[in-house]
Amino acid sequence: MILTISFIWAIVVGLCCCLWLITGIRRRHPAEPPLENGWIPFLGCALQFGANPLEFLRSRQKKHGHIFTCKIAGQYVHFLCDPFSYHAVIRQGRHLDWKKFHFDASAKAFGHESMDPSQGYTTENLHQTFLKTLQGDALSSLIETMMENLQGTMLQSGMLKATTSEWQSDGIYAFCYKVMFEAGYLTLFGKELDGDQSIARQQAQKALVLNALDNFKEFDKIFPALIAGLPIHVFKSAYSAREKLAKTMLHENLSRRANVSDLISLRMLLNDTLSTFNELSKARTHVAILWASQANTLPATFWTLFHMIRCPAAMKAASEEVRRTFESSNQKVDPTNSRLVLTREQLDNMPVLDSIIKEAMRLSSASLNVRMAKSDFLLQLDNKESYHIRKDDVIAMYPPMIHFDPEIYDDPLEFKYDRYIDENGQEKTTFYRNGRKLRYYYMPFGSGVTKCPGRFFAVHEIKQFLSLLLSYFEMELLDSDVKEPPLDQSRAGLGVLQPTYDVDFRYRLKSL
Ligand code: HEM
Repeated sequence: MILTISFIWAIVVGLCCCLWLITGIRRRHPAEPPLENGWIPFLGCALQFGANPLEFLRSRQKKHGHIFTCKIAGQYVHFLCDPFSYHAVIRQGRHLDWKKFHFDASAKAFGHESMDPSQGYTTENLHQTFLKTLQGDALSSLIETMMENLQGTMLQSGMLKATTSEWQSDGIYAFCYKVMFEAGYLTLFGKELDGDQSIARQQAQKALVLNALDNFKEFDKIFPALIAGLPIHVFKSAYSAREKLAKTMLHENLSRRANVSDLISLRMLLNDTLSTFNELSKARTHVAILWASQANTLPATFWTLFHMIRCPAAMKAASEEVRRTFESSNQKVDPTNSRLVLTREQLDNMPVLDSIIKEAMRLSSASLNVRMAKSDFLLQLDNKESYHIRKDDVIAMYPPMIHFDPEIYDDPLEFKYDRYIDENGQEKTTFYRNGRKLRYYYMPFGSGVTKCPGRFFAVHEIKQFLSLLLSYFEMELLDSDVKEPPLDQSRAGLGVLQPTYDVDFRYRLKSL
């Protein structure tokens, strides 16, 4: 009897495998890129890719050349590995869709109704909202508020217990998290204080920020799992953290706050006038903005500070640049009267900090740039080869392929603080591969239409953070020979990678 059941099972499994082989495996058509279906049904090559994307792509590039197709979790993805051909994808507006992924991913992770106007819940053009409120004139006021908030957090809010006499020890990541989260949160979402400086109000304000920080951390931990398609209800504490964040961002709560940024004020107005979202859904769209504004900035700030503090030449050059910048505008550093200002023009004119930030992000960012084919079309690469791409397939570019290419960057694993400074001391923008000048050599912020709209603010806020830190504090590593922590690859594809563990340092206020 047992033998018969086993036999029947063997036949069923065998038939399923045959069915999968016949129907589930794609066959390569002529003029399509080389294809790998992988060995696991549905998942295809997902596990090998996920274990180490860079290694996986390099090995396939060696085997197949500039473009190849892999089945990843049910989706056929064409990986484009030749930076000279990136432009062919980035300019292919007609055939490629970039919105669907973003809208679907955001609704899945944050639980709001679709922000895609074609779904009928809103007519807001989100892309325009972001450009209008994060760039141009709006950027100057964001920078101004961020500078005030950073000084408030570093010197007044009690987040740090800095004195001139005693060293304080902390993890660099923990430190960056506290300072950047509080200052960034208040800059976008405003303060409850509204002029009321009483101790009780300040403490309530601090408690709100600390709660938001804890909830953000809890939710962010499972973000990769949500993007991979797992439902949030599997993760009870992360779900509860996300909902607590959303509750603080209900319009009735946000409207009681002062100094709310243009971005959030406009999004509130458009949610109320152009959408049919319920109140919770509106609040969840603001949680999505909080995530976008912090999730990459926090690790990027960590890597920048970590590399800078570990490289004496970088510390020296950065300190001199910061000192010169404040001196040239006659500003005196005084922690008891912390009112340093850095204008957009000044921030744009700090090539050393700029290069340190770029180099730190070159080494740590891993955002997959994706587009989906709206119809069958022919993709022509730089070498004039053409490939058929099928409707609904994905084309992907993985920037670490260029960031770690030894033909573009010599000693690509090494942090060289002045890599992006030219012989005239200005931003270096000429990089070559095989003797040809590259258009795309640095892509932590994405590309083309999907390029991060907050990128100018992101770089400026990290520059402000470093400038203030270098002006007000002395700091050093607890272990001057500390090794670089490995990147946490579980977030590969999603942005700047976090360190797998924190690195200790100590700091105290300078006696000026
Ligand atoms: C170092 C910091 C940052 C990095 C590396 C970064 C990177 C990125 C990348 C790669 C994308 C595009 C994702 C894609 O193509 O799928 C993106 C989108 C976005 N980023 Fe950033 N970002 C950073 C900071 C910020 C900040 C500070 C803000 C806002 C204050 C922000 C707001 C956004 C928004 C709203 C989007 C979505 C744009 C859209 O869908 O139209 N980002 N970011």
